[in-house]
Amino acid sequence: MRLKLENVVKTFGSVNVLDDISIDLVDKNVVTIIGPSGGGKSTLLYLLSGYKEITSGNITINEHELQNDEKFLIEYRKKIGIVFQAYNLFPHLTAIQNITLVLEKVHNYNKKDAKDRASELLVHFQLGQHRNKFPIELSGGQQQRLAIARAMSYEPELLFFDEPSAALDPELTVEVLGTIKKLKEEGTHLVIVTHEMGFARNVSDHILYLSGGKIVEHGSPTEIFDHPKTQCLKRFCQIH
Ligand SMILES: Nc1ncnc2c1ncn2[C@@H]1O[C@H](COP(=O)(O)OP(=O)(O)OP(=O)(O)O)[C@@H](O)[C@H]1O
Ligand SMILES: [Mg+2]
Repeated sequence: MRLKLENVVKTFGSVNVLDDISIDLVDKNVVTIIGPSGGGKSTLLYLLSGYKEITSGNITINEHELQNDEKFLIEYRKKIGIVFQAYNLFPHLTAIQNITLVLEKVHNYNKKDAKDRASELLVHFQLGQHRNKFPIELSGGQQQRLAIARAMSYEPELLFFDEPSAALDPELTVEVLGTIKKLKEEGTHLVIVTHEMGFARNVSDHILYLSGGKIVEHGSPTEIFDHPKTQCLKRFCQIH
């Protein structure tokens, strides 16, 4: 994956939540974002996935030069999958309908193919017996797995995950992280916000350490975890 950020700023009110971020990465297929709460991780993921507009600066991902233009963003969002920190499932649809609706309406699957694909993923994520439940009837971990299943259902070129294992118990965490590793092996380009440092070390080609709206350090897992340069990252590594 190519990931180029040029002087990216995102402002809410008078606060620069992302404060003039620049980076240029080539051939890094799995990029993870780590850092303290409130540092801007989710905000950066929203910009990269085309769900929030950049205040100023430029973002290029692979061949996509992101534009603050609704028509562009609608097309761009068809090529990517995202699992938000708060899942964003459709509350009025059952588990299986949450997947089939997207496949049919956005990706032009016919009814049978959509149902087959959704069923396959539900079984893979141990949600087969919950297929007809509404999100409110699912546990946090089940909702999270459903959101992941939906995001990968149409095999997007780019997948964005915001803390994909946050609501999972250890066993399911292993399961979900295994799925993400498999996506990497299949060649999907991934950007992942995570607080699982073991996983970040294991799966990342490159890690961004984001704090106070800045990329304070970035580098390979070894550079970040074994040779942190700043006091701030050293302390972060000690407590995680
Ligand atoms: N829509 C918004 N309006 C105003 N401020 C916002 C908005 N979204 C985020 N912020 C602020 O931007 C900052 C960064 O938030 P963000 O959600 O990106 O942090 P984060 O690194 O993902 O944190 P966490 O680890 O807790 O999820 C926070 O101070 C937050 O309050
Ligand atoms: Mg967040």
